Formats: sequence, C-alpha cells, structure tokens
Amino acid sequence: MTQQIPGPPPIRNILALLKFLPEVRGDTLGLIDGMFHQYGDFFHIEVLGTKQYITSNADAIHEVLVKQSGKFIKDKDYRDTQRGLARFFGSGLVTSNGDFWKRQRKLVAPAFHTRRIEAYADTINDFTLDLLKEWRDGARMDISEAMTALTLRIVVKTLFNADVRSDTAKVSSGLRQVLEYLSEMQFGFIPTWVPTPLELKGRKARQTLDEVVYRVINERRASGEDTGDLLSMLLMAEDEDGNHMTDVQVRDEVLTLLLAGHETTANTLNWTFMLLAQHPEVEAKLHQELQTVLQGRTPTLADLKQLPYLTMVIKEAQRVLPPVWMISREATEDVEINGYTIPKGSVVGVFIYGAHHNPEYWEHPEQFNPERFSPENEGRIPRFAYLPFGGGPRICIGNSFAMMEAQLILATIAQRYRLCLEPGQVVEKAASITLYPKHGLPMTLHQRQPVTPQPMEIALS
Ligand code: HEM
Repeated sequence: MTQQIPGPPPIRNILALLKFLPEVRGDTLGLIDGMFHQYGDFFHIEVLGTKQYITSNADAIHEVLVKQSGKFIKDKDYRDTQRGLARFFGSGLVTSNGDFWKRQRKLVAPAFHTRRIEAYADTINDFTLDLLKEWRDGARMDISEAMTALTLRIVVKTLFNADVRSDTAKVSSGLRQVLEYLSEMQFGFIPTWVPTPLELKGRKARQTLDEVVYRVINERRASGEDTGDLLSMLLMAEDEDGNHMTDVQVRDEVLTLLLAGHETTANTLNWTFMLLAQHPEVEAKLHQELQTVLQGRTPTLADLKQLPYLTMVIKEAQRVLPPVWMISREATEDVEINGYTIPKGSVVGVFIYGAHHNPEYWEHPEQFNPERFSPENEGRIPRFAYLPFGGGPRICIGNSFAMMEAQLILATIAQRYRLCLEPGQVVEKAASITLYPKHGLPMTLHQRQPVTPQPMEIALS
C-alpha cells in the first residue's frame, strides 16, 4: 500500500512561482532544511504539476543510491545540454549514464587506486609548503581563495602532470562562473540563445576553460609522450573497435575532474578552518596531536595513521557542512521506497546535509563534535546517515584522494598557523552544486612558534 508523501502546499501557477523563486534563490539550503524540519525526512515539493521528492532518511537513501540504483539515472540538472551541467562538462563522469558511464569509470579508476594516489602525497606537500612561503604572521587573507588555488594546482599536477599555476586564477574563476551561471539558469526562463549578460558570462567562462584544457591536450598529443598519468590514459584508451576518445571526450573528462576534484576539497578545508576557529578547544587538541606526532616535520603518508584526531576533525567538518549538500536522480520507472511510490520520470533529491543533521541519527546535530568519529563511536553511525562522498556505484571516485589531500594540507598548515576569525564574524553559506562560503573566508593568520623537539624526561627513582 502506498502512502501520501507530506510536503508544502503545491505551487500551482506562475504568479505563485514568481513569489516562491526569490525565496529559493536567497537561501536554497535554508528553505529545504526548513521543509525537512517541518515535513520530515521524506517530503515532496510540487511546482506547476511536477513533483520533486527530497529525502534525508538513511534507508530511503540506501534504496536510491544502492538497492534500486538501477532504476535511476542522473536527472536533467546534470543531463540538460542547455541549462544543466552537461552544457559545460559534456558527457564526463559526473554527467553521463548507462554503458558509456560504466566504460569511462573503468577507464578513469586506475588513476585513483591506492598505490597511485599515494604517489601524489609529495606533490600535495610541496604545493602546500609553496603556499606557506607566501604567508605572513598577522596577515588577513581569503582562505577560500587560497584553498581553491592550492587544490586546483594539485589536481592538475597529479592527474594531468601539468602545472597551470599561471592559469590557476583563470581556471578557478572560469569554473566558479560556470557554477554561478548554472545556479542562476535553474531559476531562469529566458532561452539560452538570447545573449543576456548572464548568458554571455557563461559563454565566456566556457571559452576560457576550453582554451586552457585544449592547450593541455594538444601539448600532450604533440609530445606523443606516455607519462603514465590520467591524461595519457585517456588519450591512449581504445574501445573494442580500436577507436580512441575524441578531443571533445577527453576535454569533458578533464574538465569534469578539474571541477569535481578541487572545489569540493577546497570547501572541506574552508569549513574545517572555520569550525576550528570557532572551537578553540578542538583546535588545541588537534595542534597537540600534530605537535606530538610530527614535531614540526611535514607529514608523510605513514604519519596519517598516527593522527586519528586529524581525520576525526575533517570527517566531522564534512558532516556539519558537507561540500556536496544534495545529489539527485531521476526514476526511469515507478519505484517503491519506504512505502511511497515515486512515479517514473520524477526526481529524487538525496539531501546529504539533511541526513547529516537528522536528529534521528545524530545527537545535537548542530554541534561540532569530532568525537562522533572516534574509533569507538564511528561504527554506531547508521549506514547512509553520513555520506559526504555519496554512495553506491556512483560514489565519488576521488574520495580517498580527497581525504588524503585534506589530511596532509590541514596537518601542514595547522602545525604552523592558527587561522582566526574576527570576533562576531559571520560566514554566510551559499549552496549551488557545492556548499561554499558566500563571500569568501577572510581569516587572520597567526604563526605558531617553531617546535623544538623536547628532550626525553628521565624518571629519577
Ligand atoms: C572532499 C572532497 C570531495 C567530496 C565531498 C566529493 C563528493 C562527491 C559526491 C557526493 C559525489 C557523488 C555525486 C552523485 O552521486 O551524484 C562525487 C562524485 C564524483 N567525484 Fe567527488 N568529491 C570530492 C573530491 C573529489 C576528487 C578529489 C575528485 C577527483 C580528483 C572527485 C571526482 C568525482 C567524480 C569524477 C565523481 C563522479 C563519479 C561517478 O559518477 O562515477 N571528487 N563526489
């Protein structure tokens, strides 16, 4: 028997929609979160006769992403070649579906195997130390800008063996403009052939990104070199008929990985630094661990196992402020979930932020408390109540890479600097594809005293 799904009153006409839109645009996350608190962890929104379902219920999420994942595909927000991600990222891993996606996933996967990503640790450390050379005690700077540039430089070097330092600003501002364009377009009615200022901005951003990515592809093709990295793998891959990927396909994957592979990690670090500044007791405990284990050294991969609190802090930051706050799917047939029928063609939003704040699974969900992820406590978290990297076959391909990267960067920076907010400083959140600090993250750098290894205490009897 199927039940009625709760939800706010339907928006039946254009007038009501026009009233509703500014509310969504102003604070999308706040609006959806408010509905979650009012209607529960499985509700629907009906707009002009179309229903969209939103869930932050762990069992329902498990159904959508794993048990019944074969009945879902990525929805129009991804697939639409005019107003969706596909407009900019073509048929890259994030946007594609079916057999094509399966083939591409297999092709890209080896670049993320454990042995492979371990080799990326040196680059991560080198680039982080490079950044710190520019930092000065007492300086105030936009941490989100710094983290974006750092993570972008890392992903380009590790996956494509190129250093786009001179282009980093261009690429990151191009990607940010694309995200802004997409979140505006979601609410717009004007066709994309009309050259509005927004449309022109989107086209310009795409052109900038294409220039950089095609240049990297052309340089590699011209050199004919197999440098063993992901770019070489993509260029050399052959299907059963011996066909290679076209430049456009390679471009789609490269651009997809650039977007998926840096903005998310940068936001993990942004929110972690913000939360540490707001919770000095957590920051002090983290610093103590770093000091004891590393004594001022740059962390190695082997050190990470000895730094459990570092990992707990990052995981908890990703719970409180998940960089990807919502993912969505479209049902390709009628689907039964938790006693509800989701009709074919409708979209289900997996509200990751909601699951991470669902009081059913978390005590005092708004509190930042890394102890939730201690070895004793972590095992008690229900499956799919925590999913910063999604789940099922389409789970983030870069999750281990991202965790290692965030751990190394945080360990290196937090050893040397304490990052502080101004008293009373409010950091506003904005939710588009990622959850990011709306007006950047200005923080003040406080350099710590260099650590001198302590002489061992000799116990006198
Ligand atoms: C903390 C950092 C990251 C977070 C929170 C994150 C989160 C996610 C999530 C939630 C998904 C699932 C999307 C869906 O199911 O619709 C995803 C997919 C993906 N991520 Fe990440 N990601 C991170 C870092 C990375 C990195 C470093 C890379 C690559 C260098 C990457 C590449 C991808 C790709 C290619 C997909 C699509 C996978 C597929 O559908 O086969 N991500 N990510």
